[in-house]
This record gives sequence, structure tokens and C-alpha cells, in this order.
Amino acid sequence: MELCLPDAASLPVGQARAFTWPGDSRAGGGFVVQHASGLVAFRNACPHWGVDLDMGLGGFYDPAIDRVYCRTHGALFVLPSGLCDEGPCVGESLEPLPLRVDGADVWVTVPDPPRDASDA
Ligand code: FES
Repeated sequence: MELCLPDAASLPVGQARAFTWPGDSRAGGGFVVQHASGLVAFRNACPHWGVDLDMGLGGFYDPAIDRVYCRTHGALFVLPSGLCDEGPCVGESLEPLPLRVDGADVWVTVPDPPRDASDA
């Protein structure tokens, strides 16, 4: 399903925004970053332990080192690929979420919620 992030296309370079969606199997949601290479979106899950990168505190991207970072053990991720180049999960990647820009809004494709047994 697609999720609308109002005005996310106008985030300043270096800024990120977290988001969640109903039925997220992990509940960690995702985040977008306005990077110099363009807008990117990922699931908010570290490939090391699967925990939220930001520990619920916000803050995903450090412009001083041009990396997304994990607060738990300090893994660093290159943009726009999301590939970890330093830390305990080197060579693994963040899970990208497809996005499209429509004016000021950003639409992110997120996993569909699990089907309820009553839907079957
Ligand atoms: S949980 Fe992210 S580096 Fe360990």
C-alpha cells in the first residue's frame, strides 16, 4: 500500500522524517531522508539486530559524516544505497522502501498489513 507523507518533498537536505503505518508487522515504521543524492526511504530497522535505528528518539542521518546511523551499536549506512560500511553489519543493507514525489507530498510504498483470518 502507499502512504502519503505530506510536504516531505520539501524537507531540507540533511533532514529526516519518521513515519509509521497501520498493521506494520514490526511496528518500527520507516523514515525518509532528504539526501544530496535525492530523497530516499527505508524501513526503520537495523540489519544487525532488527531494532529501530533511532531507538524511538528521532534522528537518523548525520550530515557531518554523511551516513545514516544506528544508535544501538553505531552501524553506519551509505546513502542512497543504505549499505552498511562500518559497524557490526558491514555489507548488509537497510531495507529500501519505494517512493514517488507528487508535488510537495511523498508517497511511500510500504508492506501491506497481514490479512486478518476473517478476510480469508
Ligand atoms: S542493532 Fe544496529 S548496529 Fe547493532
